[in-house]
Amino acid sequence: MLVEVRDLTKIYVTGKLEVGALQGIDLAIEEGEFVAIMGPSGSGKTTLMNIIGCLDRPTAGTYKLAGRHAEGLSDDQLAEIRGKQIGFVFQVYNLLQQATALQNVELPLQYARVGNQRQRAMDALAKLGLADRAHHLPSELSGGQQQRVAIARSLVNEPSIILADEPTGNLDSRTGAEVMDMFSQLNEDGITLILVTHDARVASYADRLGECHDGKGVSDGPVPDSGKVEGEETN
Ligand SMILES: Nc1ncnc2c1ncn2[C@@H]1O[C@H](COP(=O)(O)OP(=O)(O)OP(=O)(O)O)[C@@H](O)[C@H]1O
Ligand SMILES: [Mg+2]
Repeated sequence: MLVEVRDLTKIYVTGKLEVGALQGIDLAIEEGEFVAIMGPSGSGKTTLMNIIGCLDRPTAGTYKLAGRHAEGLSDDQLAEIRGKQIGFVFQVYNLLQQATALQNVELPLQYARVGNQRQRAMDALAKLGLADRAHHLPSELSGGQQQRVAIARSLVNEPSIILADEPTGNLDSRTGAEVMDMFSQLNEDGITLILVTHDARVASYADRLGECHDGKGVSDGPVPDSGKVEGEETN
């Protein structure tokens, strides 16, 4: 099992107020799966992704990544796992505005101090169909192209998992479908994908659907066939 979450609890304490963002989530994801996570706003989806992505720790419960317990690791150990095994894609593309597409994609390689950075970054951009935009700034790219740069950046380190939190949330339906086709291709190439979305059509690209409600997992099963309809709003 690549991701194994058991009875995961996350309580945020703000002053005297406690919020039970996750209240006993169980989730198991095998290598190569493509899992969509849906649920109302505030139901804990981003909190769960942050813990799976080793950006945060649970209050209670266990999280094993590739068989290794992650809940008790130090910040440095978590950062190392993130750098080697996990790619992130967000709703806002989080690109450095003063850096070109190529420089943005190179960034994770600089942190990881691996060789052959330029070539690897170019290869990742080419994979996303952006070889001819490598030297453009984000402001010179469309929203869909910027999101594809962010996806190239997420996979340049050859992670075993990509975590995408509302990756099509800022895109129109056609561009969202293009981005989803890219994710499907990456999944066919073997990358495990966990994707949060509010959109049933986006979720329909996944093999499996997990639903969150009030910090609890309420169902986990096949994705209902909603049809990938062209030309409608995805938001
Ligand atoms: N850093 C934080 N400190 C305090 N409370 C938080 C923090 N982050 C999230 N929460 C609370 O935890 C709950 C779950 O938040 P989370 O961001 O995981 O929801 P979500 O399902 O991703 O929602 P959305 O669909 O709106 O993105 C919410 O009630 C939120 O207010
Ligand atoms: Mg969220």
